[in-house]
Amino acid sequence: MSNIKYSSLYKTIFELMELPDNAVIADLGCRDASFLLGFEQAFPNKIKSAIGVDISDRGFKNIEYKNPIELKVMNCAGKLEFDDNSFNFVFSKDMFECVSDKEFLVSEIYRILKPNGIVICVNCDWDGIAYNGENKELITKAIHAYAETKQPWMDDLDSWIGRRMYGFFSKSKLFESCVSVHNVIETEYKVGTFGYDLSLDIAWLHEENTGALTREEYDQFIACLQSAQKEGSYIFSKPYYIYKGIKK
Ligand SMILES: C[S@@+](CC[C@H](N)C(=O)[O-])C[C@H]1O[C@@H](n2cnc3c(N)ncnc32)[C@H](O)[C@@H]1O
Repeated sequence: MSNIKYSSLYKTIFELMELPDNAVIADLGCRDASFLLGFEQAFPNKIKSAIGVDISDRGFKNIEYKNPIELKVMNCAGKLEFDDNSFNFVFSKDMFECVSDKEFLVSEIYRILKPNGIVICVNCDWDGIAYNGENKELITKAIHAYAETKQPWMDDLDSWIGRRMYGFFSKSKLFESCVSVHNVIETEYKVGTFGYDLSLDIAWLHEENTGALTREEYDQFIACLQSAQKEGSYIFSKPYYIYKGIKK
């Protein structure tokens, strides 16, 4: 896979996928279609059509994609612009938490899947992320603040979306449901890792004056991670809940 950072998550997802020949698949909230490109590479000649949709086309620029991949701007918070029984497989990663009416989205996924079609929804449980470092209180505060602060493009936010995903689908009684967790573990604080990238993303809390974390607290948080790295006690752990449902 071209994206090494995600390679172990991709592998876990591929093992859960069951694509028929000439599969018709969709990715809801696809951003730059990296997962569709990954599916195409992992299952050569199996996919007849792969449609990626996103509320914004900003991720579609500067990527190379061609048939069978097609990308469209679509708001997944409303009725999906697809016919009933269209897809063998629907995928969505880290998009569900942005939509407020999750029950409606679950019913829409059911509607667009073919009988026995499969849905896989992957969601990080943002409040379940852990860093090790000396200042427990500050690290907990920074993670919780990032998990709980809504960004401008989000219609909704749930920092527990990972652990809640199973319930949204299971309550609908529309799917045979199962759930697993893929945990990313890193022991080095360095450029290109999930933990490093997240620590940079957390800066927006003070840069945008959200009030959730001050500049001083952010600087101390980064110093704490650097010091853990220096003394060899750095750990970053990120749980991805993977829901798999089969349309009944
Ligand atoms: C955290 S990103 C995840 C992107 C991609 N699935 C991935 O995991 O690499 C969330 C994506 O969902 C998209 N999104 C948010 N709300 C949406 C909505 N209502 N309908 C469609 N896409 C939406 C955002 O534009 C963004 O690309």
